[in-house]
Amino acid sequence: MSSSRVRILDPNEKPSPVFYPIAIIGAGAGGIGAACRLKHLGYDKFRVFERESGLGGTWWTNRYPGVSKTIYSSGSDFLDYLGTAVERAGITSNIRLNSEVTMEEVIQAKIVISAVGILSEPNKPIADLGASNGQVIHSARWPADTDLTGQDVVVVGSGCSAAQIVPALLQTPVKSLTQIMRTPPWVVPRLEEPGGKEAYAKWAPQIYGTVPLLGFFVPAASSLAHMTALAPPKYHRILTPQYPVGCKRRIFDSDWLKCMHDSRFTLASGSLTSVSDHEVNVRGPDASCKELTDRILKADTLILATGFDTHEFKHYLPVVGRDGISLQDQWATRGGPHAYMCTAVDGFPNFFMVRGPNTLTGHTSAIMTMENTIEYILRLIKPVLTGHVSIVEPKPEAVQAWDRAIQANTQATVFRVCTSWYKTGGRNVAVYPRSQVDYHLRCRFPRLSNWNRTMTVRGMNRQRRHWAIGYLAIATVCFGVLYAVL
Ligand SMILES: Cc1cc2nc3c(=O)[nH]c(=O)nc-3n(C[C@H](O)[C@H](O)[C@H](O)COP(=O)(O)OP(=O)(O)OC[C@H]3O[C@@H](n4cnc5c(N)ncnc54)[C@H](O)[C@@H]3O)c2cc1C
Ligand SMILES: NC(=O)c1ccc[n+]([C@@H]2O[C@H](COP(=O)([O-])OP(=O)(O)OC[C@H]3O[C@@H](n4cnc5c(N)ncnc54)[C@H](OP(=O)(O)O)[C@@H]3O)[C@@H](O)[C@H]2O)c1
Repeated sequence: MSSSRVRILDPNEKPSPVFYPIAIIGAGAGGIGAACRLKHLGYDKFRVFERESGLGGTWWTNRYPGVSKTIYSSGSDFLDYLGTAVERAGITSNIRLNSEVTMEEVIQAKIVISAVGILSEPNKPIADLGASNGQVIHSARWPADTDLTGQDVVVVGSGCSAAQIVPALLQTPVKSLTQIMRTPPWVVPRLEEPGGKEAYAKWAPQIYGTVPLLGFFVPAASSLAHMTALAPPKYHRILTPQYPVGCKRRIFDSDWLKCMHDSRFTLASGSLTSVSDHEVNVRGPDASCKELTDRILKADTLILATGFDTHEFKHYLPVVGRDGISLQDQWATRGGPHAYMCTAVDGFPNFFMVRGPNTLTGHTSAIMTMENTIEYILRLIKPVLTGHVSIVEPKPEAVQAWDRAIQANTQATVFRVCTSWYKTGGRNVAVYPRSQVDYHLRCRFPRLSNWNRTMTVRGMNRQRRHWAIGYLAIATVCFGVLYAVL
């Protein structure tokens, strides 16, 4: 039996120890997906704990101007979709908001599914941000009433978030907008909905539901040609990446490169190094590109599109295993984060992660990977829910072999090359180094021999019955054959 500790944030409510057969931590797409599938299979005795005051995870917290998914839908559309999915599944009352799972009060659960996400905690690029005296906003904590009219704005970062924020802000009356770009991204055209928005909305669920890997086949255009066609020539050199396509997250963009023609926009190559009163310091290459120089930029508002604190693959949940060792400590002693089938670790019985180590794809939808992981988890926990198995846990040798294979496979991929949040100390902690077809098939056909499963008395009786029926069937066939021959 696993136990989690829950701190109820509502001060008027007295915490009391409770038992749920299944506790799901996090109500982002992963937690909601797991909950919907459980309900669909007829299990509704689960509770989803979410620390925020709304559900949707990424899509609840990321409200910066222009937020959207890579392909087709806006952030708010996807948030609505998740809300509708919860209502349709009839699981609203299973979700408990404002409930952060910490190490204070105790709830008990047979199975714990952690869906706490990876991209939750904002990454602060420098320590002394307080010295700015101006407004400092992280992309994932965008205040609803932000008005940047007439301001000198500096945006730090050139990842997917920045590429969505910059064109959206240039639609507003900012005085100037300077973007600090440390590393140029590869940019590919954002795809339009095949057949138009309405037809896509109508048919996509059936098409992707029937052929789940279809999303894999995204037409690729020449990234550099796309960049030079859209961006002003003065930026072509600094916008040309010096690393292979794919080892950092690509940007699917149709607006960012175009908006660089706006006379209020400047692209500055370099790193944010410090802030002072309404100013920021950028260290980057000089005009000849031979030396690094410091530049001071005016900043009434500093926008940090600097991503998330993903170093060392922080699992945002304190998890303690059977022997009292924490997940982080176990990972530290074994060389780094890893999980068998990206979801479970030996010593942590009945505990599963929806987005564990190596679940990122870099090239396909995170949602598809989560769906695969959820189906896999459901297959494993089904006998626990039916009372035939009490404990399910991957075998230590399977976990270690899995980890070795993931790291070895990474050496043959482009992810080996770049410095990115996909890696910690040279070790691939985030990306699945094989194709998602491979992962899909592994989830569809679980290797149960890699799991230790402790049977209950009921389970053993059922197994004996199955064996007895099997022996009886074989004996009957043998007698039949003998009778016919003799
Ligand atoms: C701006 C942005 C755009 C993205 N666009 C795409 C895209 O187009 N396509 C794509 O496939 N992926 C995209 N992603 C990745 C995206 O994170 C995933 O698609 C997916 O939404 C992640 O879902 P999740 O449930 O794993 O995590 P999250 O959405 O992060 O949800 C985790 C939830 O767990 C909660 N939580 C964490 N710790 C605790 C705790 N201790 N107790 C209780 N609750 C807790 C959090 O509050 C959060 O609500 C994007 C990410 C970002 C940041
Ligand atoms: N689908 C979408 O449309 C979408 C939109 C947003 C986010 N996402 C997802 O969310 C993830 C995070 O995206 P993100 O854009 O928020 O973060 P990110 O990809 O991690 O990008 C962070 C950016 O900040 C830069 N940076 C960090 N510290 C800096 C410093 N001191 N000075 C200058 N630049 C600095 C990084 O530069 P370096 O590259 O040099 O490190 C990088 O350009 C993505 O990988 C993607 O999975 C998806």
